Amino acid sequence: MSGIRFDSVSVAYHGTTVLDRLDLTVEPGEVMALLGPSGSGKTTALRAVAGFVRPVAGRVLIGGRDVTGLPPHKRGIGMVVQQYALFPHMRVEQNVAFGLKAQKASKAEIPGRVAEALEMTGMASYAARYPRELSGGQQQRVAIARALAIRPGVLLLDEPLSALDAQLRSGMLAELARLHRELPDVSILYVTHDQVEALTLADRIAVMDRARLQDCGTPQQLYRAPGTEFTAAFVGNANLLPVTVAEGGAVFEGHALELDRGLAAPGAGATLCVRPHLLALGEGPNALRGKITEVQWRGSTHRLYVDVDGHRVKADLPELRETPALGDEVTLHFEPRDAVLLSAGVSGA
Ligand SMILES: Nc1ncnc2c1ncn2[C@@H]1O[C@H](COP(=O)(O)OP(=O)(O)OP(=O)(O)O)[C@@H](O)[C@H]1O
Ligand SMILES: [Mg+2]
Repeated sequence: MSGIRFDSVSVAYHGTTVLDRLDLTVEPGEVMALLGPSGSGKTTALRAVAGFVRPVAGRVLIGGRDVTGLPPHKRGIGMVVQQYALFPHMRVEQNVAFGLKAQKASKAEIPGRVAEALEMTGMASYAARYPRELSGGQQQRVAIARALAIRPGVLLLDEPLSALDAQLRSGMLAELARLHRELPDVSILYVTHDQVEALTLADRIAVMDRARLQDCGTPQQLYRAPGTEFTAAFVGNANLLPVTVAEGGAVFEGHALELDRGLAAPGAGATLCVRPHLLALGEGPNALRGKITEVQWRGSTHRLYVDVDGHRVKADLPELRETPALGDEVTLHFEPRDAVLLSAGVSGA
């Protein structure tokens, strides 16, 4: 069993810190998604585990062992990157055997291990083909087979699905979930900036922004009770409204709101987070009134943008029979249990 531990790991390029004292533990057998915007340091964190970049400070541990000074091929990791990265002049089976040879696996052992990995990814009948004779999705399966052939304790996936079209992506997502069930001891670090992938696949999500870990928790925790404005906005959609904390709720632009979960300090400034799909049309508790500034029909829902006292509030409503018109006055409301307060100033967003 092999978990991963980042122990205050920092990475810098040319004196610029791109990973800032990362502390994070991936438990044995856990899928941890690293989620964050472009340039936030996700790939860098992965490369530090793989051994392709040397931290300027801190330690990386795999299975409790300090691997910070070890070369990549001695770390027992499999890695898959965004672009298939197969060797074009090698057949599928040679590609899959590559890591085994680098590890100096015995000649007798290699064919069986290759067959096993190709079987797992549904690519057994393509063993003799060249990468150029495969579709993008098939190439990515081979890349996954290559990573699995060495029977890694740790699997590093860097946006493995981002080069695939939407339909293929959702099929491969299900495949990865199945592989994880078949390999319950393998720890997976999965880099993505697609929140659906993170929410679907991960046991926990680590949210990165500007070289730092911002938040970490189960998908449900981060979605229902985000710790920061950044997480609230990045994991799912959010309305973030400035409020003042009050007894039993908050005050937004002079309107008293009733909330189930509050902050300890009445009078303090805070941010109210309410998800667009938890707003309903019509009168009710916690009414927000305003004028419609934009209507988007999205098939199964209508997205309304409503100007409430100068704030742009978005609501995702089940498809409305009559399309509301721009400029119409509407009332939205939400249940006291459906909003959370975030302390102001805790977020980088
Ligand atoms: N080899 C390098 N030399 C110099 N700077 C680098 C190098 N690799 C990455 N960086 C910088 O480090 C920062 C973090 O990059 P990283 O690739 O980790 O981001 P990321 O979160 O994976 O982004 P993306 O979602 O776009 O892949 C960026 O500002 C990037 O420009
Ligand atoms: Mg990246």
